[in-house]
Amino acid sequence: MTTPDTDRSQTAVIVLAAGSGTRMKSATPKMLHRVCGRTMLGHALHAAAGIHPEQIVVVVGHQREQVGAAVAELAVDLGVPVTTAVQEEQNGTGDAVAAGMAALPADFSGTVLVTTSDIPLLDADTLREVVTRHDLRPRASVTILTSTAPDPTGYGRIVRNDDGEVLRIVEHKDASDDERAIDEVNSGIYAFDARVLREKLGELGTDNSQGELYLTDVIQLARQSNGLIRGHRVEDADLVAGVNDRVQLAGLAAEMNRRLCETAMRAGATIVDPGSTWVDVDVHIGRDVTILPGTHLTGSTVIGDGATVGPDTTLQDTTVGEGASVVRTHAVGASIGPGAEVGPFAYLRPQAELGERSKIGTFVEVKKSSIGAHTKVPHLTYVGDATIGEHTNIGASSVFVNYDGVNKNRTVIGDHCRTGSDTMFIAPVTVGDGAYSGAGTVIKNDVPPGALAVSGGRQRNIDDWVIENRPDSGSAEAALRTRNDS
Ligand code: UD1
Ligand code: CA
Repeated sequence: MTTPDTDRSQTAVIVLAAGSGTRMKSATPKMLHRVCGRTMLGHALHAAAGIHPEQIVVVVGHQREQVGAAVAELAVDLGVPVTTAVQEEQNGTGDAVAAGMAALPADFSGTVLVTTSDIPLLDADTLREVVTRHDLRPRASVTILTSTAPDPTGYGRIVRNDDGEVLRIVEHKDASDDERAIDEVNSGIYAFDARVLREKLGELGTDNSQGELYLTDVIQLARQSNGLIRGHRVEDADLVAGVNDRVQLAGLAAEMNRRLCETAMRAGATIVDPGSTWVDVDVHIGRDVTILPGTHLTGSTVIGDGATVGPDTTLQDTTVGEGASVVRTHAVGASIGPGAEVGPFAYLRPQAELGERSKIGTFVEVKKSSIGAHTKVPHLTYVGDATIGEHTNIGASSVFVNYDGVNKNRTVIGDHCRTGSDTMFIAPVTVGDGAYSGAGTVIKNDVPPGALAVSGGRQRNIDDWVIENRPDSGSAEAALRTRNDS
């Protein structure tokens, strides 16, 4: 039996994450900084898991507790076994990979893909391409992902002979002037034959300008043993661009955001101003959605078909139903029903659940409450810990008084209610179907279905009180003027 030419060997991925990231000037490890809603480590692990390797090993060192905890948390959703290996001292990329190799079975003989945790745009497709190239017959000893850097300063340069074969990689600090003129650079992403890698890591020395064990020296050692070295240059340099400082972090975040907006637009959404629209990587935007300028869609937010969002709206982990409209709103963990209208100037907090065609208007805050279909809360109102039925209208300036200083209590309001402006619902309290309340009512007791609730005594006017008690005031003068005119 013959094996096909591109027969895929077993693959393990080693993700380097032991470095200190000094140039970030941060108490947070570099790889835990976020790009479009996901840490760079998260991006690296998602990309690695996307090629379905047998195993992922993350090499940790600096701030290993924090990084290790982040790895464990991310590993839950990846569907690939993930382990960490500790690099005790940061003696270079060769030493880091050796630490990673020690976590693989001693007889592991497939392909080892090495990547780093600070390349946010690197995706599974690019990694898969490296493995595919590597597996072409004759199978390579090392396949290096390279790119053309606009400014190659700092990168390792790819040295090729006249036939275009890769001879070695020379680090910027060790390179001659001629070598520094080479614009093809090492991305730091490689596929290795596991046996070659294991053998050559053992032969690395530290005779270089940084006194470190360079992973890149494996290349010329492998070539000296007649191994085949492939260089695979990606056209899109941003895919392999690394982050060393916060300027690069912002630059690559903007680039990823631009790509996410482009994907949404190609799938049928209108984004009026992609430059002021920020979209996290796990957000889903439907067809014929319109996103107006200044909108931030974060976390697991989902926008249903035909909805309009913005301008100046932030939605975090929020679901927007089909055809809904959300204007100048801040929402966290909310669910907005189909055809609902929200804003301008609404604040939806966790577990705000708005029914179909409901309306939450201006200066209205909703928390842990369900608002029935076709129900309206149009103006200046706080709704907390409430269940409101369908086709009900809550008058302006009402408060669901849910907190008695010790406990949070619920208010339940039925269908087709009409509560007056400035009604206070002192929870726990229930208002039956079809009930009304007068303006300014303080509802302390349950209201039966169909009843009108009113509170406070009959209005009493004490004539001339202001004129007599505030004789020289503007109010008194105004009152006197009117009285004299009539
Ligand atoms: C490395 C490459 C260089 C390449 C560049 C791409 C070497 C010797 N050089 O250089 O050819 O162009 O990446 O960005 O490999 N790390 C550890 N432990 C260590 C040292 C590094 O885990 O002891 C990790 C870092 O956290 C980082 C990655 O390895 O994720 C690369 O290390 P870095 O110091 O940035 O290498 P460069 O000098 O940039
Ligand atoms: Ca680097």
